Amino acid sequence: FPVENIRNFSIVAHVDHGKSTLADRLLELTGTIDKTENNKQVLDKLQVERERGITVKAQTASLFYNCEGKQYLLNLIDTPGIQAQTVANFFLAFEAQLSVIPVINKIDLKNADPERVENQIEKVFDIPSDECIKISAKLGTNVESVLQAVIERIPPPKVHRKNPLRALVFDSTFDQYRGVIANVALFDGVVSKGDKIVSAHTQKTYEVNEVGVLNPNEQPTHKLYAGQVGYLIAGMKNVIEAQIGDTLYLHKQPVEPLPGFKSAKPMVFAGMYPVDQSEYNNLKSAIEKLTLNDSSVTVHRDSSLALGAGWRLGFLGLLHMEVFNQRLEQEYNASVILTTPTVPYKAVLSSSKLIKEYREKEITIINPAQFPDKSKVTEYLEPVVLGTIITPDEYTGKIMMLCEARRAVQKNMIFIDQNRVMLKYLFPLNEIVVDFYDSLKSLSSGYASFDYEDAGYQTAELVKMDILLNGNTVEELVTVVHKDKAHSIGKAICERLKDSLPRQLFEIAIQAAIGSKIIARETVKAYRKNVLAKCYGGDITRKMKLLKRQAEGKKKLRKIGNVEVPKDAFIKVLKTR
Ligand code: GTP
Repeated sequence: FPVENIRNFSIVAHVDHGKSTLADRLLELTGTIDKTENNKQVLDKLQVERERGITVKAQTASLFYNCEGKQYLLNLIDTPGIQAQTVANFFLAFEAQLSVIPVINKIDLKNADPERVENQIEKVFDIPSDECIKISAKLGTNVESVLQAVIERIPPPKVHRKNPLRALVFDSTFDQYRGVIANVALFDGVVSKGDKIVSAHTQKTYEVNEVGVLNPNEQPTHKLYAGQVGYLIAGMKNVIEAQIGDTLYLHKQPVEPLPGFKSAKPMVFAGMYPVDQSEYNNLKSAIEKLTLNDSSVTVHRDSSLALGAGWRLGFLGLLHMEVFNQRLEQEYNASVILTTPTVPYKAVLSSSKLIKEYREKEITIINPAQFPDKSKVTEYLEPVVLGTIITPDEYTGKIMMLCEARRAVQKNMIFIDQNRVMLKYLFPLNEIVVDFYDSLKSLSSGYASFDYEDAGYQTAELVKMDILLNGNTVEELVTVVHKDKAHSIGKAICERLKDSLPRQLFEIAIQAAIGSKIIARETVKAYRKNVLAKCYGGDITRKMKLLKRQAEGKKKLRKIGNVEVPKDAFIKVLKTR
């Protein structure tokens, strides 16, 4: 393929705006997949993606397209939609001087008003409204214009085929039988089957067993040329060997490594532990494999007295965390304990002993268990984000109340057309990670949109809150909260725990505490669950069966002191705020 006939592009949009549907239409139009085989969302391959209808993992496909007698190679990267950062991404693309093609989707909807959206785009992004392409990905309306625009408005990649090989690993997956499959974009040179290649990151040498294009499934070819995007299998067995952002070059022909990627910054941290410590090694390898597929998850080893050895993982957001957990369970059959998610707080230390210990004055706390006491710090800091909300005017009042309840400070408010308002608020990150988006959607009947970007740190009055069951701390539920919110959050957690804890032989006191001060309390009354009461003497095999069932049920329990807690009780409580 001549370089001037190659285009690389990706589709960026909010969750649910139709990226995957559009990608499917593009695959159909270019004959990459068959229209007749009910190919719903071919690029969303994972079970969790099909179930939740969201894209978790970026998928790449090469499309061949004929236009005015010329054949083009269009490389599409389907981007994951688990971050509400479309606006921030637009400005990143703008700064990197990438071509942006605005596409307005879902014009088939009864209440669609594409002209109004065009004007909004012009107002917010300064893109002339006549550049917008109006489509219905669902019906296929006008989708061909998107391909035309890709060819006309995006320049061919700037690459050099005569130079020695320089390939960027931009994604990699692990296949149980074939090992690591690295997705690569070639900036310079050529790579063929049989070539000896070196990883700039590990300096290890490999022989290329297979190269090919993604069409959208892997299709072997003899070579890949600069400007192409494809995959490569080279006997990398260990998941750490194919790091995203790494550069591959030919043996004895070293090149300057490509800049790679700025790693995504985790916003939410949680502890993860195997339910049973004997599962530690299995869980470790599952986490390694999944993080190879999702480099935005950070992993640190961690341990807790109550939960044993485990990890502290960093995620882009709560949905990202839930999806990761679901994938562990579905794809690796792992059973894990997750602790209350927390954002990366900071503390400026005053205690010289602690400063010595950490070798730093300002520390980041991603584990509430390590939250330093107030007497040892000058101040605490919390991460903040600049949130953008666009809403029909009629919901503005309610939304402003919601934002204020979340400790947000208004920065701006403008009308972007006759009845739409754009609000900008500075939010403490922890106030939006759990359920802000859901609350916003429900009070605006689904019409308000939310987008946020990193805005640094601000001083905050924080406290560590423990949850106790009959006086014993529940490690999973230790959290750091804002002083003003401690009471309401503590009360809500106690109430939820009360609803989800089964009665036991003795009374259970559920308490929320800050240091030694109890700030909320609920009680679960004693009760004896007698499984044998049901079978009036009689049948011994039935008795055995029931006893066995009760024993199995207990395996899914966690014992805190003498109190048995079903695993799903934690999950319910983790969603409280
Ligand atoms: P994520 O993968 O979660 O980021 O979502 P997405 O942006 O890929 O959205 P997806 O393609 O999964 O579409 C979301 C929903 O919108 C699905 O129910 C689609 O059927 C629907 N949808 C997509 N395009 C259109 C369209 O043009 N018209 C209408 N009416 N519905 C559409």
